[in-house]
Amino acid sequence: MSLADFQNEIYLNGLGDVRPALPTDLSRLEEVARERLSPEAFGYVAGSAGSEATAAANRAAFDRWRIVPRMLRDVSRRDMAVEVLGTPMPAPIVVGPVGVLSILHPDGEPAVARAASALGVPMVLSSASSYSMEEVAEASGDGPRWYQLYWPKDRELAASFLKRAEAAGYTVLVVTLDTFTMGWRPRDLDNAYLPFLRGIGVANYFSDPVFQKAVGGPVTDANRDAALLHWVANFGDPSLTWEDLAFLRERWDGPIVLKGILHPDDARRAVDAGMQGVVVSNHGGRQVDGAVAALDALPGVVEAVGDRAAVLFDSGVRTGADVVKALALGADAVLVARPYVYGLGLAGEAGVRHVLRCLLAETELTVMLAGYTGPGELTPDALARV
Ligand code: GLV
Repeated sequence: MSLADFQNEIYLNGLGDVRPALPTDLSRLEEVARERLSPEAFGYVAGSAGSEATAAANRAAFDRWRIVPRMLRDVSRRDMAVEVLGTPMPAPIVVGPVGVLSILHPDGEPAVARAASALGVPMVLSSASSYSMEEVAEASGDGPRWYQLYWPKDRELAASFLKRAEAAGYTVLVVTLDTFTMGWRPRDLDNAYLPFLRGIGVANYFSDPVFQKAVGGPVTDANRDAALLHWVANFGDPSLTWEDLAFLRERWDGPIVLKGILHPDDARRAVDAGMQGVVVSNHGGRQVDGAVAALDALPGVVEAVGDRAAVLFDSGVRTGADVVKALALGADAVLVARPYVYGLGLAGEAGVRHVLRCLLAETELTVMLAGYTGPGELTPDALARV
């Protein structure tokens, strides 16, 4: 069965008068979510930094590239599957790290893990998840899972996170470098809303033995305020430099990927420091307003890295066409985030499953209709810049 068969399934369901509960144009999910989610939760997910110029630029950059379909090339058989960083996947699509998911649905990250795992799609679990990494690993079962690190100031805590993630079966370490503190986010500021301060998104911290030791034992009502203050003081470390990467390299046996890379020189340094990959990302425009669109940064990073490491792409991906464009510009795989988060908020695990199946199906159909039989055939030649 191909990924694109989801299309037939939808039409066949229609014969029984069943229609998809959520839009199949994933770029429309945001408008549906705006109507149905709480203003605080919607604002947290949809919001970006400052005037949101970079979030808009991420989308505009996709619009400037158009796919140029080729004809009569026998695309009757396709193989969309790839292996990236030792992880086989049904298509070069990865569930990107997003924390605090219980603000959208009580089932939170475990629901995402179940949906992703059932489809064989790798999930990157955020450090800021609302369930612990062990609970999410259990929900993920045999599913492929990677762990995203927000590198805490307390080195003992950082080491503890790595040890726990490895023990819980996360195989790739994704280190987010661009968020050692939150960007200026007017939607959250106007709502005076930061989930962490309400005790959401801190499950990995509160369940950690090193963290608990620092706050005088397991977190209860008695030490909760102190625990939250300790979280604030330790969430990120603005003093980190390239030299510090050795700390991670010594403590993580599997592949390490640096997320938030936008400059070719930073990509080169990552590879020189023994990293196995980079994620070209501006955090969905949530950190530096005015930052370069991630897609505009991709070709330069691809050129700098060559075949020495994996290049993943994140920021602005909404549809199968977006996935194809990023792959054609040299990404080995693409991270999707806001669309599945809206899916979760609107319909729980079933909503995430819907979003992932739509994205997989649309990606395969786009590859096929453009005249290709798999992601490996895509090059910049598949695109025109307008
Ligand atoms: C933090 O991870 C955020 O982007 O909200």
